[in-house]
Amino acid sequence: MSPSYQAETRISLDDVHYAPLAPGERELKILGDVRGKRVLELACGAAQNAIAVSKRGARAAALDISALQLSQARRLIAEEGVQVDLLRGDMEHLGMFRDECFDVLMSSFGWEFVPDLAACFLECQRVLRPGGLLVVCTVHPLAAFEWGEDDGALLVTDYFNPPVEVWGEEGGRGEGRAMTFFHTLEEMFALLTSSGFAVDRIVEPYPCAPEQIGEGAAPGPPYSGAYWESQYERFRRVPFAIVYVGHKA
Ligand SMILES: C[S@@+](CC[C@H](N)C(=O)[O-])C[C@H]1O[C@@H](n2cnc3c(N)ncnc32)[C@H](O)[C@@H]1O
Repeated sequence: MSPSYQAETRISLDDVHYAPLAPGERELKILGDVRGKRVLELACGAAQNAIAVSKRGARAAALDISALQLSQARRLIAEEGVQVDLLRGDMEHLGMFRDECFDVLMSSFGWEFVPDLAACFLECQRVLRPGGLLVVCTVHPLAAFEWGEDDGALLVTDYFNPPVEVWGEEGGRGEGRAMTFFHTLEEMFALLTSSGFAVDRIVEPYPCAPEQIGEGAAPGPPYSGAYWESQYERFRRVPFAIVYVGHKA
């Protein structure tokens, strides 16, 4: 799905994104000053966030499981003239990294694809230095549910047992299928704290103002596109993304 994802999503190379149509790091200041810090972006896709932090002075590395996404990342890194170390791998197994070698771990929209999140968090804990910052940006548990266009309301069938979403490209041949796993707030908090993280803050990014939405709007949100714009009214009522901000305890 990489070519269509990159073609259809407008992703900033200058600001870190946390949610579709919402402000990024420039306004939310979740990562803070990254100058000189060793930052790892997990499930980086085309590494737009790693590129953005590298421009802010971080020493960035970025990992993804998809060779196609990484080839897009390689192109963007060359075009932007920045230094980002790219690695191909599975975020459940970070054996390529030494213990405690990063100051910051971040990821936008990767955690929901990981079947064994506990394994992933343990690996994150291992490679992060004591006190290091973890920024987990993922789908909000309420994003699992259908939005009724007619009545403008969310149909929450069973919050405690959210469905696993199976999706892929329309007309695709099947190998491009992905599964999205939703987690309740309690489950995420328990997974993070039992993996050795303290949760300092959660953020539910609220969308930008209407005049900032749409192609050509300046300054627009750092993550947008027609698909997301069609859901603007929903996003103004129900959060799509949630950011867990914590540190290695
Ligand atoms: C929705 S994209 C998000 C990419 C990027 N973070 C962004 O915000 O544009 C999800 C990414 O997760 C990657 N991914 C899925 N499972 C992974 C895993 N187990 N380990 C590493 N990357 C994974 C996919 O290859 C894809 O690039």
